Amino acid sequence: MRTTEVMTAVVVRRPGGPEQLHLAELPRPVPGPHQLLVRVRASALNRTDTTQRAGGYALPPDVTSPLLGVEVSGVVEAVGVAVRSFEPGQRVFGLVDGGGYAEACLMEEGMAVLMPEGWSFVEAAATPEAYCTAHESLLELGGLGPGQSVLVHAGGSGIGTACIQVARAVGARVFVTVGSEEKKRRCLELGADAGVVRTQEDFAPVLARWTDGRGVDLVEDFVGGAALERNLASLRLGGCLLLVGLMDGMRGDVDLKQVVLRRLQIKGMALRPLPLEAKAAVTRRFQARWLPELVAGRVRPIIDSTFPLARVAEAHRHMESNASFGKIVLEV
Ligand SMILES: NC(=O)c1ccc[n+]([C@@H]2O[C@H](COP(=O)([O-])OP(=O)(O)OC[C@H]3O[C@@H](n4cnc5c(N)ncnc54)[C@H](OP(=O)(O)O)[C@@H]3O)[C@@H](O)[C@H]2O)c1
Repeated sequence: MRTTEVMTAVVVRRPGGPEQLHLAELPRPVPGPHQLLVRVRASALNRTDTTQRAGGYALPPDVTSPLLGVEVSGVVEAVGVAVRSFEPGQRVFGLVDGGGYAEACLMEEGMAVLMPEGWSFVEAAATPEAYCTAHESLLELGGLGPGQSVLVHAGGSGIGTACIQVARAVGARVFVTVGSEEKKRRCLELGADAGVVRTQEDFAPVLARWTDGRGVDLVEDFVGGAALERNLASLRLGGCLLLVGLMDGMRGDVDLKQVVLRRLQIKGMALRPLPLEAKAAVTRRFQARWLPELVAGRVRPIIDSTFPLARVAEAHRHMESNASFGKIVLEV
């Protein structure tokens, strides 16, 4: 008989394709003093999950769980002895240190956020990674503000759809790259000002015309690789390349003279390897700046699709087909 000490979770049999994802019965985690045990109701996919599944992501040494899944929503099932702000039965959402693709997962008290009234578990799970990443990169690192402009690569990605809305909310102009006309249309609907379909057109000359040759203040780059040189060339004098993802590869050629003479900046960002205190601070900034906007409906999570946990392989295939617009969410 199945006891409450076990749970169903997604495991990766061996590093490889989506066919390596399987459901297994694992011991239910036990919360440490400052942790919540959350009965997961929804967990959103992120590109790092597909990289981790394929064996290409070196887990930070102190992660709580080696399982996939870095953001969840659900109901608090139990709390650690030192937890003061939450109690069993409350609906919460937030970033987790892995382990989200499961019936239950540990969440640090400092990273838990109470779910607003009327929110669905799917919406809540689709929110934290996208809005925390958009805020930390564009605003904390990039200092984006009114009247400035930003190039957002992969505008239709889960993170990209939040970046478009965050940039527009602070009064900036947004140029996107996407993989299809349909995604471009949807990005413009979300608030982007212009964009190119990356498979049909080189973004650099179009963006140069769009900025009257001046270049943008920021490039939000999820791509890395071959576009590095063109990204730097697309920045205005003193502009900043925010390296947030590396979907097109980890290496690229840089004309260092261009960086020096045009006083360019290159800043990298990754949420997951941050120490716990820093991640709790990220959550507090998200709560202060974006939760009220989300509750008021001025910005929103964009949901592409939902899959039951048992169809996780299909969800990964869908993500890797590059067909999704916004977040893909697993319902548990
Ligand atoms: N640094 C951090 O803390 C952090 C946190 C979260 C996510 N990220 C990064 O953010 C990025 C987006 O993640 P996500 O989960 O939102 O992804 P997603 O929803 O799966 O969207 C990714 C999109 O990127 C585009 N793309 C895929 N391969 C590409 C390539 N080689 N060159 C250019 N575009 C490509 C595709 O759209 P089109 O075909 O329409 O272009 C694809 O649909 C990833 O790089 C991820 O690692 C970083």
